[in-house]
Amino acid sequence: MRSRYAWQMEDYDLAYRKSPDLFGECAEEILLDFEPRFPRHALMLDIGCGTGRNSLAAAARAHRVLGIDPSAQALEILQARSEASGHLIETHQCSFDEFHPPVQSFDVICIFGLLQMLDPAGILRLLGKIDSWSHAGSFLLLVAWNTGDPKFGHLSECRQEIPSRGLPLRSFRSSDGAIRSFFLPGRLPEIFPGWENIHHEEKLGPWHRHGDSEPERHGRIEYVARREK
Ligand SMILES: C[S@@+](CC[C@H](N)C(=O)[O-])C[C@H]1O[C@@H](n2cnc3c(N)ncnc32)[C@H](O)[C@@H]1O
Repeated sequence: MRSRYAWQMEDYDLAYRKSPDLFGECAEEILLDFEPRFPRHALMLDIGCGTGRNSLAAAARAHRVLGIDPSAQALEILQARSEASGHLIETHQCSFDEFHPPVQSFDVICIFGLLQMLDPAGILRLLGKIDSWSHAGSFLLLVAWNTGDPKFGHLSECRQEIPSRGLPLRSFRSSDGAIRSFFLPGRLPEIFPGWENIHHEEKLGPWHRHGDSEPERHGRIEYVARREK
């Protein structure tokens, strides 16, 4: 049986084969800015790590990184880069739904560019995982999209809306099953009760391309938080 993520992973495998730096070469700035606050040799989980621009930057700063992503191609590229750099990174080829961590919890959890691909039920499952894979003092860093995204207006007119299940967001499914979820402006921290907000910024992000795609920009949410207890 095809997993519910199969269509996405075939797309991602192809896209990463063509453009290994599909989401850029540099790590997210919030990771570089807040990494000095992590514990020494922090254990970091990068959920949806792709080809590892963030995992590799954290490993180069002496953190112990575990990356998960369902794309075999992404992890092959990440592993080759990790070996070339000498900073070893453990990877698991799976969705967050299927992941069984080899440790009880992580000091840092990164989720860059994944929430917009999940429907509300998927986001709720991921929130449950974040809760069980973190401890008091754990850091959470994420990048997601809000309804200020230039694509939001068009999608809200022509795609089927999915019930939000109480989350502060709007979600849409296209005929091929692709999901796009956009948080309501300013509301993302509500889904993390019990986490101290360290950094929260929402703005129109920079123009960029993914491989040879059309230039685009996103209504970008950056969020860094620390678990209270
Ligand atoms: C937009 S890319 C971002 C990649 C990377 N985080 C970055 O910022 O460069 C989203 C990644 O999430 C992965 N992904 C999709 N569904 C996933 C899931 N259910 N669990 C974990 N990763 C997933 C995709 O394979 C893809 O590599």
